[in-house]
Amino acid sequence: FQPKIMAGRKVVLTAGPTFEAIDPVRGITNSSSGKMGYALARALARAGAEVVLVSGPVALPAPAGVRRVSVRGALDMRDAVFAALPGAEVFIGVAAVADYRPQQRAEHKIKKAEGGLELVLTPNPDILAEVAALPNPPFCVGFAAESRELDAYAESKRRAKGLPMLVGNLVQDALGADDNEVVLYDDNGRYPLGRAAKDELARRIVEHLATLLAGGEMR
Ligand code: PMT
Repeated sequence: FQPKIMAGRKVVLTAGPTFEAIDPVRGITNSSSGKMGYALARALARAGAEVVLVSGPVALPAPAGVRRVSVRGALDMRDAVFAALPGAEVFIGVAAVADYRPQQRAEHKIKKAEGGLELVLTPNPDILAEVAALPNPPFCVGFAAESRELDAYAESKRRAKGLPMLVGNLVQDALGADDNEVVLYDDNGRYPLGRAAKDELARRIVEHLATLLAGGEMR
């Protein structure tokens, strides 16, 4: 039995990597399996939320009770997020969005030639920063995957984007694994949630989120 602590709330979240096409067969991507974001979507649905999961390409089935919108590149992900936002009280960015995309996508397969190949990359929009900067934004939760100095980098990302809550994890713990170790950051401090299966950590993250939404103090 799980209490419906998110009943009546709509949540939009992103998960997985983005895939930025170079030509019809090649692209650049990040190495996210989607497991953390899908676990969170599942936990939110179990807690009674209406969930829209905007997902990059992953090999996972859509969680029960969740509306999944499948996308490839960061630009598609941004469009799908903004289309889903009306009525959403919460936005969560779990996706590992590629920071850059090829400036041009070749219409046909690029042929192998002598010498090297130069790719010109252009920055992708920061979806979470754009949502957080809306005039009347939903409650925005960020994720930060770092390879060192988690506290310092995670808190600086939270402050830079003006987020009320952020989930920090280490890439070496998080990427592709079934379990993880996370620390939550909000305006009141830092909350280590320990090491556990991603489903269990997702349940703890939803508990913290629901308490903040209800205006409660964390212990
Ligand atoms: O999928 P798994 O294998 O389970 O791995 C989970 C995970 C490690 C991918 C996940 O737990 C995680 O930490 N995701 C965030 C990855 C990250 O470090 O993102 P970032 O530092 O590039 O971005 C910070 C925040 O801004 C994130 O919430 C991200 O979704 C968001 N962002 C970033 C760039 C961008 N262009 N748009 C965004 O919305």
